[in-house]
Amino acid sequence: MSGLKDAIESVRKAAAEAFASATSPEALESARTEYLGRKGQVRELMTKLGTLAAEERPIAGKLINDLKEDITRFFEESAATVAHGRKAQKAPILDVTLPGTKPRMGRVHPLTWAMQEIVEIFGRMGFTAAYGPEVETVHNNYECLNMPLDHPSRDAFDTFFIKDRADILLRSHTSPVQVRSMMAAQPPLRIVVPGRTYRPDTIDATHGAMFSQVEGLVVDTDIAMADLKFCLDSFAKAYFGGAVRTRFRPHFFPFTEPSAEMDVSCIFCGAEGCRICKGGWIEVLGCGMVHPNVFRAVGYDPEKYTGFAFGMGVERLCMLKQCVNDLRLFFENDIRFLSQF
Ligand code: PHE
Repeated sequence: MSGLKDAIESVRKAAAEAFASATSPEALESARTEYLGRKGQVRELMTKLGTLAAEERPIAGKLINDLKEDITRFFEESAATVAHGRKAQKAPILDVTLPGTKPRMGRVHPLTWAMQEIVEIFGRMGFTAAYGPEVETVHNNYECLNMPLDHPSRDAFDTFFIKDRADILLRSHTSPVQVRSMMAAQPPLRIVVPGRTYRPDTIDATHGAMFSQVEGLVVDTDIAMADLKFCLDSFAKAYFGGAVRTRFRPHFFPFTEPSAEMDVSCIFCGAEGCRICKGGWIEVLGCGMVHPNVFRAVGYDPEKYTGFAFGMGVERLCMLKQCVNDLRLFFENDIRFLSQF
């Protein structure tokens, strides 16, 4: 009797392993035949009942029946997993009801975004984008823009020179691209120039040694100051919202005459006067009618053509619109700041 009990246990153990490792329908069927088939091991054990004493038979019979039930359960469980192909693939089970993993999406830098928006607004007014190198010649950065070597306003546009070279520098504004564009084409011209510029400014909340500008230039016959005002007022309304008003204050730039700075009515207080605007207006760009000397420098006839130009600081425009109070945030690459845009 104890020999039979041991035999039952070892069949149970072997059967459990055989069904657990059956990964294909074929393996499953052969395990079934081996243990539950007509000549299988359970039947085999049954035949041994006859060798036992009469009083032991019912006890042993029950043990074999329990074994049969257990093995039948192993078979059914294994059949269910094989049918789902899960064992065969050996792949992790896909639970479609689990919450998904959110993909981490990158996004455009706020300054790039502002630059694209500005270019897009002018694009709607018929401007096309033009580009120039950040390493420029002294000639394009100063001389062609009516700033000869001894001109005092060269100080205001001071920049970084390239080591051991007196003739090339990091451009201090995007205005040299006016020169490049006029040299490359004949009027009419209507361009905007987004790009990076450099000045040896002390870095603080509103200044950096590197900053971005968008330049604009229109040249044609009969371009007047009224065109400049209408164009830039339209831009301000498109960028800051329709309620914004603009004003032009006389200013000086060597490459424009007359020159002006454009202010917008404060978008925070509606020109009432607040901590940010200190008097209701905020300066946003420089502009003016193209100086005849600039036309002469690029070979345009100043008697025939007139035009206007403007240049704006992208950081400043972006800071105003997005309520950013420190320019350095744009360059620190702190994901907590950048992911807010
Ligand atoms: N280049 C000037 C600046 O950087 C801006 C400007 C451009 C002014 C074109 C007038 C015309 O300050």
